[in-house]
Amino acid sequence: MNAHTAIRTPDAAPVPGDKPDVHAMVQHETVLSPRFYTTDFAALDAIDVSSVREEWDAMIAEMVSDPNKLHFKRDVRFDGIIEQLEPALKAEFIDFLVSSLTSEFSGCILYAEMARRTKNPDMKQLFKLLARDESRHAGFINEALKDAGIGIDLGFLTKAKKYHYFKPKFIFYSVYLSEKIGYARYIAIYRQLAAHPELRFHPIFQWFESWCNDEFRHGEAFALLLRADPKLLTGFNKLWVRFFLLAVYATMYVRDHARPVFHAALGLNPTDYDYRVFSICSQISRQVFPVELDTDDPRFRRSMDRLLAASRRIDAGKQRGGLGGALLRASGLVGAGLSFARMYLLRPRRNELPAKIRLQPAW
Ligand SMILES: [Fe+2]
Ligand SMILES: [Fe+2]
Repeated sequence: MNAHTAIRTPDAAPVPGDKPDVHAMVQHETVLSPRFYTTDFAALDAIDVSSVREEWDAMIAEMVSDPNKLHFKRDVRFDGIIEQLEPALKAEFIDFLVSSLTSEFSGCILYAEMARRTKNPDMKQLFKLLARDESRHAGFINEALKDAGIGIDLGFLTKAKKYHYFKPKFIFYSVYLSEKIGYARYIAIYRQLAAHPELRFHPIFQWFESWCNDEFRHGEAFALLLRADPKLLTGFNKLWVRFFLLAVYATMYVRDHARPVFHAALGLNPTDYDYRVFSICSQISRQVFPVELDTDDPRFRRSMDRLLAASRRIDAGKQRGGLGGALLRASGLVGAGLSFARMYLLRPRRNELPAKIRLQPAW
């Protein structure tokens, strides 16, 4: 699982300083913070992948071969690098790392629990492999934080976060997107820094290329699971697909715009970066979703900016407090709801699903 940040409401915004309270950062829950999920584990037992068996077996064989087995073993420490960043960049970069770690670890916890609870051998094998990778990813980010003296106690995180219940099909839509957008985010940053190595202000970005191939493979697993059960992608469920696409894109847009200094340091404009990531994610998700959002439509982009402005009013209202703050917050909530609805109601593009499902990470 991947992508995404925490916690940019005023009461938990990262504070430039020596020792940010990263435990408070991960514990704080907002609509935008990465979440921990739980589901109906028994329903996994009934999943049947026989209609995609050939592609399934090839994908599992690739995961079993463990191409990134040695990738996350470090021969260098990252001591002193975060500490030397200028305060605003340091705060936003720590925010980025903490939220990425939370996303990776929430994937690890969910997948491990799915592997433990199911009696379905295909599911057990898959989720064990996914949990293996996510635990490495979370551990690697945590090592980078520990080198700066701000590692997170993952046991604490397991207990401190609220768990949100989602039906299995909603887990599949959102986790599919989360994996694929995670790939798109990491590869877009990696490509940017390959073109501009002078902007690589922390060595962790050099790990992103092979790392994001793990996320790509994870997404492939959920693509096959969704395609194995065609009713998840037809009829009324198409409305859910559109909802999840928009929810994931909108969340990312708001979160990324809360980190202007971080993106400037990478030479990225958050708007351009996000639309690049949406475009990659939309191209990939043609393997599975019968509909796709037209993120190039000027009406979509205008509404997305209105949604961002509304979410800033919500934050400002919380910060101000009192009646004025409450009004500002209410106006933000209404504005955010209307902008979301406007984007949701724009006509999506239709896709013909390809006979061969699997893709290669070619972006
Ligand atoms: Fe993943
Ligand atoms: Fe991951």
